[in-house]
Parts: sequence; structure tokens; C-alpha cells
Amino acid sequence: MKKNIADLRKDYRLKTLNEEDISADPVEQFTLWWGEAVASEIEEVNAMTLATASKEGLPSARIVLLKGFNETGFIFFTNYNSYKGKQLQVNPKAALIFFWKELERQIRIEGKVEKITAKDSDEYFNSRPAGSRIGAWASPQSNIIENRAVIEENVKKYIDDFRQHIPRPPYWGGYIVKPDIIEFWQGRSNRLHDRIQYTKQNNGNWKIVRLAP
Ligand SMILES: Cc1cc2nc3c(=O)[nH]c(=O)nc-3n(C[C@H](O)[C@H](O)[C@H](O)COP(=O)(O)O)c2cc1C
Repeated sequence: MKKNIADLRKDYRLKTLNEEDISADPVEQFTLWWGEAVASEIEEVNAMTLATASKEGLPSARIVLLKGFNETGFIFFTNYNSYKGKQLQVNPKAALIFFWKELERQIRIEGKVEKITAKDSDEYFNSRPAGSRIGAWASPQSNIIENRAVIEENVKKYIDDFRQHIPRPPYWGGYIVKPDIIEFWQGRSNRLHDRIQYTKQNNGNWKIVRLAP
């Protein structure tokens, strides 16, 4: 069994990433790769790993869904009282990873995290299906619960409470990760991958370097 795992490997040959072909702006470069990923019909293309850390630096990672991006940053939604929410409260920094295996690509993003405005959270919350809106009320995310029935009872209760309108829970909303570093990784043959890293400078410009694979 162990040997089988150790034997698993894939050589990457699909594409290359060259300095002369990339954008000077990493969000433009992200937009380009995002478009190619969407066009490739990658399933759950917006699923990304979100890493946070405690004040002491204890890391924790999980998948969340990207719900928007712009020149300012990358947006996801969650419960502000969750484990990740508590870590972000004391240590508002995060790393994001996209792995689009169909394109042999990885994108790493690191930066500071802020809550988006209540108005923007409302707008997204109100666009969600009713079941998801009730779910946000019904689940005390990351808390220990006695059994699944607790959630099912909560669902019934909130459906009953919010017959007319399901408001956004005050503890649920969006975060934006404002990037300081973005790295684009393109798989190449013999593990000699292309890595181009953008780092934000104090003057707001982006410094571009190539990293060894
Ligand atoms: C494909 C996928 C998408 C997910 N999307 C989200 C999301 O957008 N927001 C969220 O809070 N949790 C999402 N989750 C659940 C998280 O991975 C995690 O279980 C949850 O947020 C609790 O994490 P925490 O205890 O570290 O706060 C998703 C899980 C998967 C597998």
C-alpha cells in the first residue's frame, strides 16, 4: 500500500509560464488564469484552500469558495464566530491556494484580511437560496453539537421564525484577502516547474521574480 502511494507521480507537460507573457499586475494575471480555468470547465473551480493561524502561529486550513475578486482582493463568506473567524479576529492574515490540476496550475495568495461591508454581505446573503440562508442561522459553525438533530431542529425553528424574510445573521458575512504576495505556478516536466511571484512594494507597485521550483 505504502509503496503504491510512493509510486504515484505525474509529469506535467501542458503549458509554460514565461516572464514575457505575464501581466505586470497579478490581479490581471489571475483574471487571465481564472478565465482559462472557467473555460476548462473545472469542477468547483472557485474552491480554494484558506489557511489562517492563531495568535501563536498555530496554522489551520480548510476549503472555502471564492465569491468574487477585484483589484482590492479575494472574497469569501463564512461564519464570523467559526474557528477560522476567531483566528482571523486575533490574526487577520491568511493564505489562499487554488489547485487547478486540469491545467497543472497552482496559485498562492497571501495577505491581510478584513471583513467586507455589512451592505456587501447583505447583498450576497440575499442572493443565496433560502435553504442556505436558513442554514447560516441553523449552524453554529465549528461549535460542538450533541447530534445532527440539533441542526434539524434549528432549521425548523428558523423557517418558522423567518416566514416573510430571512435576514443575514449578524455573525455571518464576507472577508476580503488583500494580497501582498501572489505566486503563479505552472507544472513542468521533471519537477522543473515555472514559478512567478509578485510582491507588493511600499509604493504600491508589484515586484516580479522567478522562484526555483
Ligand atoms: C468544496 C467546499 C466548499 C466550502 N465552502 C465553504 C465556504 O464558502 N464557507 C465556509 O464557511 N465553509 C465552507 N466549507 C466548509 C469549510 O471547509 C469548513 O468545514 C468550515 O468553514 C469550518 O471551518 P473552521 O472550523 O476552520 O472555521 C466548504 C467545504 C468544501 C469541501
